[in-house]
Amino acid sequence: MKYEALLLENKDGVAILTINRPQALNAINKTVMTELNSFFGQDYKSIDGLKSVIITGAGNKAFVAGADIKEFASLNAAAGSALSKYGQDTYMLIENFHTPVIAVVNGFALGGGCELCMACHMRIASSNAKFGQPEVNLGLIPGYGASQRLPQLIGKSKALELLLTADMISAEEAKSIGLVNHVVDDKSEALDLATTILKKISTKGPLAVAKTIKAVNAYYDETQDGYAIEHQEFGQCIESNDCKEGALAFVEKRRAVFTGN
Ligand code: CAA
Repeated sequence: MKYEALLLENKDGVAILTINRPQALNAINKTVMTELNSFFGQDYKSIDGLKSVIITGAGNKAFVAGADIKEFASLNAAAGSALSKYGQDTYMLIENFHTPVIAVVNGFALGGGCELCMACHMRIASSNAKFGQPEVNLGLIPGYGASQRLPQLIGKSKALELLLTADMISAEEAKSIGLVNHVVDDKSEALDLATTILKKISTKGPLAVAKTIKAVNAYYDETQDGYAIEHQEFGQCIESNDCKEGALAFVEKRRAVFTGN
């Protein structure tokens, strides 16, 4: 696994993926998107003891300042639509990932960057984070899912305000409207908090964690019946070894040892 634009560190099973183009405020060019797609599509399988993922941006100025605008100039309608679809598909891999993915948002999270953090399961922002969907400033609409995920997270009315005005909002405002889970002082505190949350989740049954993500995502997918997914996955869990171990550990008043089966 050799990446040009991503840094990958395995910290006790927490894969920390850093988008590493600080000279362009970590803008997502073709290389970044292809590498994200490879990581969440297959490369994660070769990470020892992978339990969860953190996505962040290199440096302190930006998480990701959007898609790389400099790659837009030569695109016609078909190529633009294909670029958008590939980004959507990649972000879907993140949203549907079987272990939790937390975005640590340090600085600008704009356009495709705000969309990237919205595709993660949770968002922890440093106090200098700024969020926005500035596409209309470029005569564009969002291409990596903001027209869908922003209303899911903050409601239609506020989403339309942000999408149509291109206003940038602070970390505190993002928290007040439900866009981020927590705001802390700086990136290092954000990484610590993300790690604490992920460590807590890693003590739970891995099957149950994966199936919870699947069932919650089903709520937002009109092609799926979320209640049906919930009862099917509940059934799968209840006959799993993990659930047997969880119930036995409860009775024996000890901590469960889950195997993910
Ligand atoms: N694409 C390509 N390069 C970018 C970039 C982007 N999205 N954002 C910043 N950069 C580059 C700048 O061009 C600049 O490079 P040079 O030094 O070579 O000129 C470098 O990063 C530093 O940026 P600035 O000098 O502009 O830094 P600043 O502090 O003055 O401003 C900013 C910071 C407000 C974030 C500003 O850079 C900015 O507005 N960036 C663009 C934000 C944007 O419009 N994002 C949406 C992109 S479209 C999209 O994402 C569509 C989608 O949904 C898929």
